[in-house]
Amino acid sequence: MLLQAMNLSKAYNHVPVIDDFSFEIDEKEIVVLVGRSGTGKTTLMRLINNLEKADQGTISIDDAVLCKQGLRGAEYADRKKRRIYQNKIGMVFQDYALFPNLSVLDNLLEAPLAQKLGSREELTTKAKALLEKMGLAEKIEAMPSTLSGGQKQRVAIARAMMLNPRVLCFDEPTSALDRESSDSIGELIQQIAADGTGILIVTHDTEFGQKYGTRIVSSSEFLKNI
Ligand SMILES: Nc1ncnc2c1ncn2[C@@H]1O[C@H](COP(=O)(O)OP(=O)(O)O)[C@@H](O)[C@H]1O
Ligand SMILES: [Mg+2]
Repeated sequence: MLLQAMNLSKAYNHVPVIDDFSFEIDEKEIVVLVGRSGTGKTTLMRLINNLEKADQGTISIDDAVLCKQGLRGAEYADRKKRRIYQNKIGMVFQDYALFPNLSVLDNLLEAPLAQKLGSREELTTKAKALLEKMGLAEKIEAMPSTLSGGQKQRVAIARAMMLNPRVLCFDEPTSALDRESSDSIGELIQQIAADGTGILIVTHDTEFGQKYGTRIVSSSEFLKNI
């Protein structure tokens, strides 16, 4: 098993959003989390990306543990171990969150250069190969504001792939796209999964979920015990 999240609970101001929820993602799986707006889908994705702290539960990818259930709730690993976990997971945000003042190439290079994952030359070669694979070779010097929604989404995916995640998460990947662009993003996600990455997609687009998911989970499971 790649990602394991066990007995997760999270409340905001004492109002539970997730209660004792467990799920897993295996290699090559595309797990789609569907459910209405406000049911905690983004919260769950933020928990497993360490952007938000779980109150209770255990979260791990391979041997890397982010937090473990202790006597008084989820106990988080030290900084160094959290970093190891974090390097195994990537997230494509709903609004893409591209750096508007950086070219497509520089958007891709920013994080791996900061993390010293290679020389500028090596990373540029990798970025070019990824952009080519995504049909964006001619956009390498473009600024994000000149791209369509579907192109921005691809740049955001390429940027996440620069860090070789074992698990890649997508928050509402189709919310700003027409059906045709959605299908091409769905096919791209299938390719990434086939290469061995575990995928988590959070969406209220059930049609997209059923078409591209290998497993569907409903957010109505989050509060089943309450
Ligand atoms: N940072 C926060 N502080 C307080 N409440 C929050 C916060 N983030 C989300 N919530 C609440 O948690 C619930 C689930 O939100 P969210 O995870 O964004 O749902 P979804 O992604 O399914 O639309 C909502 O009621 C929302 O208002
Ligand atoms: Mg959301």
